[in-house]
Amino acid sequence: MPATQTTLRIDKIKDHIGAEANGIDLRQPLDAATFRRLHDALIDNVALVIRDQKFTAAQFQDAAALFGELMEDQNRLYLAPGVPMVSTLSNRHKDSTGAIAKVGKNGSWHTDHTNQECPPKYTMLYAVELPDRGGGTAVCNMRDAYAALPGVLRRRIAGMETANTLISSTRFGTGNPDIVREQRQSANPPMIHPLVRTHPDNGTKAIWFHKNKVENILGIEPHETQDFLAGLLERAMRPEFVYLHESKLGDMLIVDNRSAMHKAGFDFDHCQHRLLYRALVRGGRPV
Ligand code: SIN
Repeated sequence: MPATQTTLRIDKIKDHIGAEANGIDLRQPLDAATFRRLHDALIDNVALVIRDQKFTAAQFQDAAALFGELMEDQNRLYLAPGVPMVSTLSNRHKDSTGAIAKVGKNGSWHTDHTNQECPPKYTMLYAVELPDRGGGTAVCNMRDAYAALPGVLRRRIAGMETANTLISSTRFGTGNPDIVREQRQSANPPMIHPLVRTHPDNGTKAIWFHKNKVENILGIEPHETQDFLAGLLERAMRPEFVYLHESKLGDMLIVDNRSAMHKAGFDFDHCQHRLLYRALVRGGRPV
C-alpha cells in the first residue's frame, strides 16, 4: 500500500492562477487521496508547481506518468537519451542546417500539439539548468480570460473552428526549416478543433489555440486569421490571469492545457544554458 505523503501543503499563488505544492517527493508512491489533492489543485488553479523534486530524466518520466498516459513529443529530435517520453528544451539545440533551432514557438502564446487529434491535457516541465535571470514560463488562465470577454465577442468566437497543421503557411518564411519541410511534405489534412473548448472535468470554456499552427479559422483566410487571433489574445489576456513561473531548480510545473495557454521566456542571457525536461500527458479530443 503506498504511504500517504502527509507533509503535502498546497498554497495558491495568485487569485486567478497558480498553486504550489511543498512537502512531497514524487519519486515515492502516491496514495489516492494525495493524488486527488494534487489533481484538484491543478484543475482549479490551471498551473501547479511542485517544488524541490530531484529527478533524473527517467524519474521525471515516472513522476509524469502518475498523472496519466504519456504521449510522445512529435519532435523526435531532442529526446532525453534513453527516455522516450521526455524531451529536452534547450537554447543550444541545433536544426539540421547547424543553426540554433527555432523551437517554432519563439516565445509566443500557444498550447501544445494542436495539430494532433488528441493534444496533451497536461504539459509538464522540469528545470534542469537555468540562466541566472529570465527564461521563465508564463501561463495564462484562458477560461477566466474567456469569461471576462464582452458577451458579443464570446458569442462571436464560440462557434469558430481552427484548422491546425505542424506550422502555418504564414510562418513558412520564418519558421524552423525542418518543421517547414515536414509540413510541406505532409499529406495529413489539417486537424479541425474548436477555438473555444469545454473542460471535460468542470464544463468551463476556454480560448485555446497555437497561433503558429493555425492555418486558418474556417471561413477566414490565413493572414486575416493571424491578425484576428493576435487581436483576440490582446483583448483577452490580462496581467491578473497570467502567472510567470520563474523556475527554480527542482520545480516541476504542470499546466492544464484545457484551460491554459503558455509561452517560454527568451529574456535571458543566451550564453547561459536553459535546459528543461518536458513530458506530455495525453488528453481527449477537444470539444
Ligand atoms: C513549451 O512551450 O511547452 C515549453 C515552455 C518553456 O520552454 O518554458
